[in-house]
Amino acid sequence: MPASRMDFKRRAQLTELMDEPCGREELRACLRDLARVNRWFMACRPLLHWLNAVANGLSVGDGPLRILDVGCGYGDGLRQIEEWARKRRMAVELTGLDLNPDATAIAAQASPAASRIQWVNAGVFEYTPPRPVHLVVSSLFTHHLAEPEIVRFLQWMERRATVGWFINDLSRAALPYFLFRAFAKVARLHRFVQHDGPVSIARAFVPEDWRRMCAAADLSEVDVQIKGYTPARLCVARRKPL
Ligand SMILES: C[S@@+](CC[C@H](N)C(=O)[O-])C[C@H]1O[C@@H](n2cnc3c(N)ncnc32)[C@H](O)[C@@H]1O
Repeated sequence: MPASRMDFKRRAQLTELMDEPCGREELRACLRDLARVNRWFMACRPLLHWLNAVANGLSVGDGPLRILDVGCGYGDGLRQIEEWARKRRMAVELTGLDLNPDATAIAAQASPAASRIQWVNAGVFEYTPPRPVHLVVSSLFTHHLAEPEIVRFLQWMERRATVGWFINDLSRAALPYFLFRAFAKVARLHRFVQHDGPVSIARAFVPEDWRRMCAAADLSEVDVQIKGYTPARLCVARRKPL
C-alpha cells in the first residue's frame, strides 16, 4: 500500500519481510542492522530505566533475578541487561526466547564466550519456563502479533511473571514512519530493515490500543503504566503489588 494512502489511525494489515522464510545469513545481516538501529536510537533505555526502578529494594530470595526476553532476535537487548546486572553486581539468570531457530543460533553466536545467557527456540505460547520467572520483557515483539494474540500474551505474562513485565514497542504515527523510511535509505540499512522499519511503525500502537487490550486482559488502568519515549517508542510496564 503506498504510504500516502496508509491509515495511521488503524494498525495496518501489512507483513514484514523478516517474518517470511529466509536464509540464516540473510537473517543475520538483517538482525545485525536492527541491533545497530537499536543502539543508535537507544532502544533499550526505557527498559533499563524500568529495571533500575524495579531492582531497587527488590528481594527475590537467595537466587538470581530471572528475566525472560520474548522475541529476543539478535539478543542485543539481553546482552545489555547482562551488562547492567554486571555493573550492579546483581545475580541474574537470563533467557532469550525466539520462535525462529536461526535467530537463537545467531544470538548465541553474537554473544561473548563469557556470557551466561540461555537461548531457547520456541513460540511464546508453547514455552513453559523450567523455573518461575520474575520478569518478562520484550522489545519490538508485540506488533508482530494480531490483537487477540497480544491480549493472550498480556495474560500469559501476567500468569508467568512473579514480579512484573515490560513491553517495549513502537508508537504508531506518520512522522516517525516517514523519517525512519528516509533514514534507513540514507544509512543503507539491510533491505529488510528498510522495508520492515516503517511497516513496524504502521503496525504499532497508540495509548488507546494498549488501554483496550489491557482491559480485555483484565488489567485495569492502575495496574499498568503506558508511557511514550523519544524517539517513537511506546512502552507498557506492569509491577505487581508486593
Ligand atoms: C523485530 S524482532 C525483535 C528482535 C529484538 N527483540 C529487538 O528488539 O531488536 C521480533 C522477533 O520476534 C520473534 N517472534 C515472532 N513471533 C514469535 C512468537 N510467537 N514467539 C517467540 N518469538 C517470536 C521473531 O522471530 C523475531 O526474532
